[in-house]
Parts: sequence; C-alpha cells; structure tokens
Amino acid sequence: MSIVISSVKEMHRLSSELKRANNKIGFVPTMGYLHEGHISLIRASKRKSDATVVSIFVNPIQFAPNEDFNKYPRDFNRDKKMLQSEGVDAIFYPSSSEIYPENFQTYVTVEKISQILEGTFRPAHFKGVTTIVNILFNCVKPDIVFFGQKDAQQAAIIKQMIADLKMDIEISIEPIVREQDGLAMSSRNIYLNEKERRDALVLYNSLCLAEKLINSGERNKERIVTEMQLIINSVESSKIDYIEIVEQTTFSISNTLERGKSYYVLVACWIGTTRLIDNILVTI
Ligand code: PAJ
Repeated sequence: MSIVISSVKEMHRLSSELKRANNKIGFVPTMGYLHEGHISLIRASKRKSDATVVSIFVNPIQFAPNEDFNKYPRDFNRDKKMLQSEGVDAIFYPSSSEIYPENFQTYVTVEKISQILEGTFRPAHFKGVTTIVNILFNCVKPDIVFFGQKDAQQAAIIKQMIADLKMDIEISIEPIVREQDGLAMSSRNIYLNEKERRDALVLYNSLCLAEKLINSGERNKERIVTEMQLIINSVESSKIDYIEIVEQTTFSISNTLERGKSYYVLVACWIGTTRLIDNILVTI
C-alpha cells in the first residue's frame, strides 16, 4: 500500500524514518495526471532505490498568468491507483497553502541556462521549477531523483542546481516515452482534438528528419532547422516557438556540430492552442 502524505511535517518524519532504517530514497516529482512517461521514471526509481516517493503537485508559480494552471488536468484518484499498482511507497500530495503559506518569500534561480530556449518564451517558469524542486527535495530528502529527457532543459537545470548548491543527491535522466506513432507522452496531449492529435506528429517527424540528416553527414544547424521548419509548417495548426540544437551537457547553442559530441535537437511548437515540446539526443 502506498501511503498518501499531505503535510510537510509528516513527509519529514517518514523520510527520516526511512533513512534511519538505511533505505536509499528514490524520488519522482510530478504534476500528476500520470502517463507511461511518469511510470517509466517510477520503475527506474524502484530499480535503483529501496523506497520510492512520488510527489503530485501542480505548482502554481511555474505557470505564467496567461498559461494553463487552472485547466491543467488533475485526477488524484486515478493517479493514486496507478501509483499503488506500481508499488510506490509514498505519495506526497500537499496543498498549495502547505507549500506556499502566506509569508512565503524564498526563491531559487539557476541563472544562465534558465534564460535560453524555454526561458525565452516562459520567463518565470524555471524559477518556479527550481524553487518547488528545492522545496520538494527538502521535504523528501531523496538520495536519488528521476527526471525525464522529455523536459531536457529542465533536467539540465536541476542537474546544475544540484551541483551548484552542493546537494548530496544523485540525478538520473530517463529516456522519452512515446505513443506508438511517436508523439511524446505528455499530460497536455489531452488538450488536442482528433485533428490536432494527428498534426502533433510533425514534432516527432521533424526530429526524425533531423536525426537522419545528421546521420548522413549534415553538420550545419541552419540547414537542419530549415528542413525541420518545412515539416512543421506543413500543418496549418502549427506555430513554432523555437527549433534549436545544443550541446548535451552545457546546453550551449551549437551552429556546427562536432564529431565526438552529443547534442539535443529541441523543438517547441504550438498545435492550435496547445504548446508542445520534444527533443532527440544525437551523438556525432
Ligand atoms: P510533469 O510534467 O508532471 O513531469 C514529471 C516528470 O516526468 C518530469 O521529469 C518529466 O520530464 C517526466 N516526463 C514527462 N513526460 C515524459 C515522457 N514522455 N517520457 C519520459 N519522461 C517524461 O516536469 C514537471 O512535471 C514539473 O516541472 C516538476 C518537475 C514536477 C516541478 O513542478
């Protein structure tokens, strides 16, 4: 049975207890409305730790006022059943006021890497993410944490934060889980209507083309981006925010690709009123 914990004090108590009994605590932070992508992180945690804690918290401060905080999908009972059948040890499910009481005033910012790509289009987003992830780490006291490559920039930022703040935490970044046709799983896919769901495949298709071009020797970013744009712009519902190629570890933007290095090809794009992100990792 997974226990559901909604108070910080209770969470502290359970984590301390688990640690005293020499358990390695694995932690998977989520915003709920779970899918196979989240489940893959949970299974990784079950493999690599002794006790797995999953948090479900739709973090208000990582959404801008014009974004989808209110309509973000929530279904705690469904999530709880999924987590129970995965054999998760504890579900941390705090309320907003438990996390952000009235006098809350401390934020955590990772500077440079938060300002590019997603940070350009969602300026306050990563400050909200690093703040909540810090708070959750302090509540759960994990030894190892699991993040998805789906949000590659987020994972890189958390890695940077762990290093900069000298946190005694290991981070594992797990591969993207996709639907059968290639669409990256996301809680936001529920917003897509039937036609948009088909159109949304242009993200994955453009990434596959990028991979093919790179594998056949293309090293020039602009040419790769141009070909990707053609695919994405072929559906009327799409509007590209960015297509970019960055070096895997530093997230520095790369105009030419060098042998021996790995790169993320990243895309952020609207399909109708839904904003989707996806990426692939390529090694030259
Ligand atoms: P959420 O979008 O719920 O995602 C939780 C974790 O699941 C993240 O690490 C994300 O990268 C991973 N994930 C999502 N889709 C995935 C997929 N298709 N394959 C593999 N992993 C996937 O990311 C957040 O929540 C929040 O920003 C959070 C870190 C919880 C802070 O609020």
